[in-house]
Amino acid sequence: MTEPQRIVVGGGHRLEGTIRVGGAKNSALKLMAATLLAEGTYRFANVPRITDVALMSDLLRATGSEVGWDESGPEPILEITVPGAIEPVAPYELVEQFRASIVVLGPMLARCGEARVALPGGDDFGPRPIDMHMRGLAELGADFETRHGYIHASAPNLLGARVLLEYPSVGATENLLMAAVLAKGTTVVDNAAREPEIADLCELLNKMGARIEGSGSSTLVIEGVEILHSADHTVIPDRIEAATYLAALGIAGGEVTVAGARHDHMAMLCQKFGEMGMRISPDADGIWAFAGTRLRSSDCSTLPYPGLATDFKPFLVAALATAEGVGIVTENVFSGRFRYVDELRRMGADIRTDSHHAVVRGVERLSGAPVKAHDIRAGAALVIAGLAAEGETVVAEAHHVARGYDDIAGKLNALGADIRLD
Ligand code: EPU
Repeated sequence: MTEPQRIVVGGGHRLEGTIRVGGAKNSALKLMAATLLAEGTYRFANVPRITDVALMSDLLRATGSEVGWDESGPEPILEITVPGAIEPVAPYELVEQFRASIVVLGPMLARCGEARVALPGGDDFGPRPIDMHMRGLAELGADFETRHGYIHASAPNLLGARVLLEYPSVGATENLLMAAVLAKGTTVVDNAAREPEIADLCELLNKMGARIEGSGSSTLVIEGVEILHSADHTVIPDRIEAATYLAALGIAGGEVTVAGARHDHMAMLCQKFGEMGMRISPDADGIWAFAGTRLRSSDCSTLPYPGLATDFKPFLVAALATAEGVGIVTENVFSGRFRYVDELRRMGADIRTDSHHAVVRGVERLSGAPVKAHDIRAGAALVIAGLAAEGETVVAEAHHVARGYDDIAGKLNALGADIRLD
């Protein structure tokens, strides 16, 4: 995969037309990890062609699986063949490149009774601890030791248990699910995360022979089974990618249909954009939206699903930067997720941050500037901010954007934007 170094955005074009959203990164990566649970061949449709999927493919290959694209049909299928015995190791060289890799811990432990996973580091939006993953798995009988930068986990006999999560962590819920499906007896996970990507994982696991009830709710009941088998699945649409295009429309103005997007997966965001003056509704194809005039400011607060996702926040801040009035944005999920604000300021945005709050005073117009992407969503936010800026915005370190977006430039250009990769 060749990655662009810079994304160059020419401002001042309205967006019109239809674009199709891809499959959800944060679902696809977990479905791929779930294949570690059982031997056989899996065929996944609607998998996004992004760097993180390539990295997870490498991680699965390192455990002994074969991973490749089957392009013979009408749409590409990611095909994974898992052998009868896997090597339960996630090497540092891969783990350090994408934190989602930590979700291999649960399935490796369940399948092999042991796992060796490199400790993920922090990242650009603050510390990313995994204490809840480990505490939950310990309730099921796992033991952990940390040596030379690796977690050595062992659990020859996982036993079902009641686990009360201190916070509805997405990753901890997923690791627990993928361990509990093969544990002996019943596991109940309370205060589980309710994100649509978790319901998607439950659906695949049930197709593989697991017995999970309560999918999509905050109490998951998992009846352990002896053995699972492979299955095929279609990944749900990426609500965060869809949110990026809706925010782009709010910033640039126009009328857009985001085909394939699920309004029910992003109802709170659509409500927020409605408050800000956009017209937005589900239609047969996906989500239709219209932005006629300058947006109005609104206060936004991030929360676990079904609240406003922390991943939407950079797009909301970018939209508020040119909205009329003052909006207060509060981050409740990740402590340090405001780094891109300095970059937006370089474009003339009037934003003040104080711990987990940002006060965004809308300005009439941003001005294009050289800026830097610090993570996937921050990079995408800078791209869409550039759509309404005067002149050219050059987003450096664009490889971060490629981790989560399959052709963001091509898709926005299809709506009339002026974006090129450099
Ligand atoms: N946390 C702990 N201890 C833990 C686990 C989490 O303190 O053991 C804290 C985190 O530090 C954070 C909060 O709990 O403050 C939420 O973390 P969570 O575990 O829910 O997030 P995650 O599983 O690490 C996933 C997505 C993120 C998304 C968050 C929140 C993937 C691969 N990543 O991360 O998406 O922001 O949920 O919804 O699914 C992205 O796609 O760019 C991205 C970062």
